Amino acid sequence: MKKLVGIGIGPGDMELITLKAYKLIKSCETVFIPESKGESLAGKIANEYIKDKKIIELSFPMGAKNKERYVEAAQIINQTLKDNETGVFLTLGDPMTYSTYAYLMKELIDIHVQTETIPGITSYNAAAALLGIPITLKDESFYLADGNIDEKLLNSVASVCILKVCKNKEEIIDKLERNGFAYTYVKRCTQEDQAVLYKKEEMLADKDYMSLIFARRA
Ligand SMILES: C[S@@+](CC[C@H](N)C(=O)[O-])C[C@H]1O[C@@H](n2cnc3c(N)ncnc32)[C@H](O)[C@@H]1O
Repeated sequence: MKKLVGIGIGPGDMELITLKAYKLIKSCETVFIPESKGESLAGKIANEYIKDKKIIELSFPMGAKNKERYVEAAQIINQTLKDNETGVFLTLGDPMTYSTYAYLMKELIDIHVQTETIPGITSYNAAAALLGIPITLKDESFYLADGNIDEKLLNSVASVCILKVCKNKEEIIDKLERNGFAYTYVKRCTQEDQAVLYKKEEMLADKDYMSLIFARRA
């Protein structure tokens, strides 16, 4: 049976990849990487590990309706892998956290390609470590959000991390301020051009998609 292993390659620093993921990449022949607008950040991060591999780029245009792309990508994977071959699909951070891989995995299962998943260090794990701010302490809950926050949920958590903040930043920040959260903006965490912003105006001016807001009850 053909097999595809979804690998989380972490937030950017090429050393923040698990040993299991590293060994698997090294042992396989075919590496699939997601690409959008001719760029693959996952491919760039893992470049050192994949340069001697057969690399297949799978296009996932950002913001597009992707159901057809997942079906198509699953077919490309199925056609590329030889019988009993195991290939890997690289994904930023963790494959089960707001990732293309989760949708792709479903399409692969539907066409009887076996799947396995190797977890990765998420962007918010890396941001909390960088900032030296705990995600959760005893008895606390954490809220991970995508693009915006539900203000009602803020009442029941000690900390929150919002990914994909670029579109609704102002609304998100207003909600955090209203509910007594101290917040920090982290851009390209653990990558070469990493930046940490504390001023609201600077956060609002920044347009980088690879950014998040991490907040804790003040
Ligand atoms: C499609 S989600 C991918 C999440 C990823 N699977 C994870 O485990 O972190 C993309 C969003 O993740 C966040 N992100 C991913 N890597 C990041 C990094 N190195 N620094 C800051 N934010 C990052 C950004 O909010 C970005 O908009």
